[in-house]
Amino acid sequence: MAIFVVGLVTGTPLGLLISTSLALGITSGILSSILTNGSLPFLEHTFQITSPVRLLELSHPNNVLLKRLLTEAPGTYHHSIIVGNLAESAADAVGGESLLVRVGAYYHDIGKIKRPYFFIENQMTSDNPHDKIAPSLSTLILTSHVKDGVELAREHRLPQGIIDIIEQHHGSGLVSYFYHKALESDRTETVTEEEFRYEGPKPQTKEAALVMLADSVEAAVRSLQNRTAGRVEGLVRKIIKDKLNDGQLDECDLTLKDLDIIAAAFVRVLTGIFHSRIEYPDIAQEMERRKKRAGTRKQLTEKSGS
Ligand SMILES: [Fe+2]
Ligand SMILES: [Fe+2]
Repeated sequence: MAIFVVGLVTGTPLGLLISTSLALGITSGILSSILTNGSLPFLEHTFQITSPVRLLELSHPNNVLLKRLLTEAPGTYHHSIIVGNLAESAADAVGGESLLVRVGAYYHDIGKIKRPYFFIENQMTSDNPHDKIAPSLSTLILTSHVKDGVELAREHRLPQGIIDIIEQHHGSGLVSYFYHKALESDRTETVTEEEFRYEGPKPQTKEAALVMLADSVEAAVRSLQNRTAGRVEGLVRKIIKDKLNDGQLDECDLTLKDLDIIAAAFVRVLTGIFHSRIEYPDIAQEMERRKKRAGTRKQLTEKSGS
């Protein structure tokens, strides 16, 4: 445009002016797009920022780590997708970075790739390796998926925002199942809560806190029997309250009002996933019933004919 105006002022012939402006405009457009895309990784690295383009790339199922998660820990992969849906919808509702939250959720349990069969969602048979080991060792194996995840994420150069979500998604939460198992066992030494807690840190951002809450909610609702809307909502609110009372949300900037909005967003998504279905009749029973009905009809026809 500037070239065109300067040309008009200096009295350049109109034909030459239009063709020159067009050629220069197209060239400058191509060059600037090459320069922007080419310098994006460098700018992201230098200023520690993550562009939406990079996050979208990382969310693609073809990504090496996500592919490994799908094949080596399929239960965890599907859990992570639902956590992504829950956390993203809550982020939209409270004004968090929803794309970062979704992608963070996809990678939050990536450390489980190291020992997938120690995690219930990947146990396809009734064999549970935890039955043969002490509760303290089980806790050590379970909690180490956070450290393993951070290491894997660093190896694959994931952005710091995603690494933070991986590192903070359990905060300093208690592995209560194995803590109570240890209390019930006849161990001679004293059982301390500290021994059965994740190392932390607690979530430092809204985004990490949302993944933490969505993660706990998904796991609990999955194991809930008789999932009516009321029971799901009750469980969601209980889990959020427990995290708050345990101090896990002390270091992030979520308000009590936010927590209420988050609970409503989770319930909305979960109702969509676990909506009530029509009970299909058992096929064998239905065939039997139809046969009997046909037999009765035949008998009646014969009687009326005789
Ligand atoms: Fe986890
Ligand atoms: Fe998880």
